[in-house]
Amino acid sequence: MTSAAIQPQSNKKKAIKETLLTPRFYTTDFEAIASMDISSQEKELRAMLTEMKNDYNRNHFIRDEDFEKTWDHVDGETRAAFIEFLERSCTSEFSGFILFKEISRRIKEKNPLLSEVFSLMARDEARHAGFLNKAMGDFNISLDLGYLTKHRVYTFFKPEWIIYAVYLSEKIGYWRYILMYRHLEKNPDYQFYPLFKKFEHWCQDESRHGDIFNALLRSQKSMWQGWKAKLWAKFFLLSVFATHTLTVHEREDFYQSVGLDAEEYDRQVIIKTNQTAAKAFPVILDTDNPTFFPRLEKCNEYNIQLQKIGDSQQPQFIKMLRKMPIVVAIFWNLLCLYLLKSKDAEELRTVVL
Ligand SMILES: [Fe+2]
Ligand SMILES: [Fe+2]
Repeated sequence: MTSAAIQPQSNKKKAIKETLLTPRFYTTDFEAIASMDISSQEKELRAMLTEMKNDYNRNHFIRDEDFEKTWDHVDGETRAAFIEFLERSCTSEFSGFILFKEISRRIKEKNPLLSEVFSLMARDEARHAGFLNKAMGDFNISLDLGYLTKHRVYTFFKPEWIIYAVYLSEKIGYWRYILMYRHLEKNPDYQFYPLFKKFEHWCQDESRHGDIFNALLRSQKSMWQGWKAKLWAKFFLLSVFATHTLTVHEREDFYQSVGLDAEEYDRQVIIKTNQTAAKAFPVILDTDNPTFFPRLEKCNEYNIQLQKIGDSQQPQFIKMLRKMPIVVAIFWNLLCLYLLKSKDAEELRTVVL
C-alpha cells in the first residue's frame, strides 16, 4: 500500500464502534496454504495472474474534479449514515489487504505463483481502502489504518474457511457494488457523492478476486466433494447471508438516502450471490423457499430487540435474562434455515453444460 493511500488526516479515528457485525481481521495457517496442491487449477490461476497483471483499474481510483467540492450540504442523518458506510467499507477492504499481503509474504518461497496472485489482490484492496479513506477525509474524518493493523484482534481461520469465506465476501461485494451502481445510474438524483460512480469498475476487481478463490476452492477436492464439503458450504452461505441481512437492515438510513429499499436490496444481493456461488460450491441455498427470507428477516427483528435491551439502563443480569430467549429464537431460525433442502450445484453445473 502506498503511504499516500493511508495519509494521516487531522481527525484520525483509531477504531470504529465494535459490534458483532463489524468487519473482522483474519489470520490463517500460512504453511498449509504454501503447501497446498493447486496443480489441477494451475492453468486457471496462471490465466488469472495475467488478468491481474494487466491491471485494468490502474487509473480508475483517481480523485477527479467531481470530488473537488465541499460536502457540508450532505448533513444530518444522511451524513452520519454515509460516514458509517464508508468506515465499515474501508475497514473491510483494509482487512482484505492485510490478509492478502500477509499470505503473499509468508508463502513467497514455497508457492511463488500464489504469492504473486495474492500480492496483486492486496494491491487492489489497498487502492479500495485508500480511496474510501480519502472519501472519509472529505467528511473530515479518517481511519487510522496503521493503528487498526496493530490493535485489532485477529481471528484465526483454517485455510479452507478462508477460501469459503473470502470467495463469498468477494462475490457478495461484487453484487453489492454493481446493484447499487445500476440503481444510481437509473436514479442519478440520489447520487449525492461521486464515489458511487466508481463502483462499476471497482466491482470488477472484486469479481476477479472471487474468481481466483473459485479456482483455489476447486483445486481442493475435499472442499467440494462429499457430505462434509456440502455442510461447510451451506454453513458459510448462511453465515454470510445472515450477516448481510443484519448489516443492511442496521443501516437502513443509508440505503434510504440513496433511494434503495433495504429489504429489496438485501434480497437481490443474496439471490445473485447464491446463484453465482453455484460455480464454486457443491450446494447452494434454496432462496426460493417461501420461508427463506421471512426467517432471515425475523433474525433481524430479534437482533434489533437485542440491541434495545443492550442499550437499556437495566442491570447486566436482567439484560442477560431478557436476551437469552431472543438469542435462542435467532439460533432456532438459523437452524431451520440450515436444515432447508439445498440445491445441488454440481448437478446444476452439468445441466448448464
Ligand atoms: Fe476490495
Ligand atoms: Fe476484493
